[in-house]
Amino acid sequence: MRIMINGADGGLYYFLSSEMLPAPARRRSNLRGKNVIETVQAGDQACLASAASESAPGFEITAREDFSDVTYLLEVRHPMLARAAAPGQFVIVISHERGERIPLTIADFDRNEGTITLVVQAVGKTTREMQQRCQVGARLSSVVGPMGIPSGIGNARKVVCVGGGLGVAPIFPQLRAFKQSGTYVIGVVGFRNRELVFWEEKFKEHCDEFIICTDDGSAGIKGLVTDGIRVALQRHADIDKLVAIGPPIMMKACAETTRPHGIATTVSLNPIMVDGTGMCGGCRVQVGGETRFACVDGPEFDGHKVDFDDLMSRLRRFSAHEKLALETWSAARRGVTQD
Ligand SMILES: Cc1cc2nc3c(=O)[nH]c(=O)nc-3n(C[C@H](O)[C@H](O)[C@H](O)COP(=O)(O)OP(=O)(O)OC[C@H]3O[C@@H](n4cnc5c(N)ncnc54)[C@H](O)[C@@H]3O)c2cc1C
Ligand code: FES
Repeated sequence: MRIMINGADGGLYYFLSSEMLPAPARRRSNLRGKNVIETVQAGDQACLASAASESAPGFEITAREDFSDVTYLLEVRHPMLARAAAPGQFVIVISHERGERIPLTIADFDRNEGTITLVVQAVGKTTREMQQRCQVGARLSSVVGPMGIPSGIGNARKVVCVGGGLGVAPIFPQLRAFKQSGTYVIGVVGFRNRELVFWEEKFKEHCDEFIICTDDGSAGIKGLVTDGIRVALQRHADIDKLVAIGPPIMMKACAETTRPHGIATTVSLNPIMVDGTGMCGGCRVQVGGETRFACVDGPEFDGHKVDFDDLMSRLRRFSAHEKLALETWSAARRGVTQD
């Protein structure tokens, strides 16, 4: 089923899968001022579907690249979403009809080709299942978005854009937008070692300076992204903004590095999300002593005001369930493979 509701503003598009939302959410025609313009319910073909035609349900995977044994890129055909996407926004993906919804940042978008790019780290059951199933020509059951408030590129003159772990790809569209707006851009990205480095040329193309940090020093400088930030701070006394995307512990460390310098610091929070519409409360975070919902109030917040310890403890709440889900899926897969 595919229902189109024309939006009034013509600019910001939401594509909602009716199966993903509780009834009250479906009745809600306005998500904090953003019009819901499309409802999509995809069929069972999902990721394993091989016949990719425009009329088939779901969203075709048009390209895939494996950066390492845990990180993979998926390019997905979704022209309306590609037109509406802005830096800092994310989508909620269900890979197949019985799949779990997971939030993923829009790491790139091509309005001419009508595609969006997702870069995924295989950390648990769903992201590993997608790693197995999502090959070129397969289809994602539903892709909801663009969600979240776009990044405020503003009028910063000199900015440091930091990406680490699963935040490396998501920092890219912001970094590019800063560069395109005339800002002096220093990119700082962190990897464990050289083998895991990706998009080096793509980053360099849009950076005035680019600093790679690796744990073992096999590429760039040896150290964490905070060491890269210190290098940038030594070189430039006039940095007026830093944006960091990555694991909460990394973003916390980035915020503590800039705090003494009074540099405005934005972080993109990644709490567990369920509906992504501001209704379930799953993604609540503490910012400046207030409760905010990352899916509709964020995902970007003032890094100097975020309670990272609360975020990290909330991310650990379902560890036992996540472990069990992965073990059960892995055991089922082994069974299939042995047969
Ligand atoms: C706004 C937003 C944007 C995101 N963008 C990306 C992205 O571009 N690429 C990407 O790979 N991931 C991204 N994530 C994280 C991604 O959604 C989770 O890694 C995914 O949901 C895990 O699902 P799973 O079933 O594979 O693992 P699970 O079984 O759910 O979890 C396995 C382990 O992964 C970690 N984990 C789970 N959820 C998160 C989370 N939200 N953030 C960090 N670690 C988590 C935990 O340590 C957990 O033990 C984003 C999250 C949010 C909220
Ligand atoms: S994910 Fe439900 S309120 Fe944000």
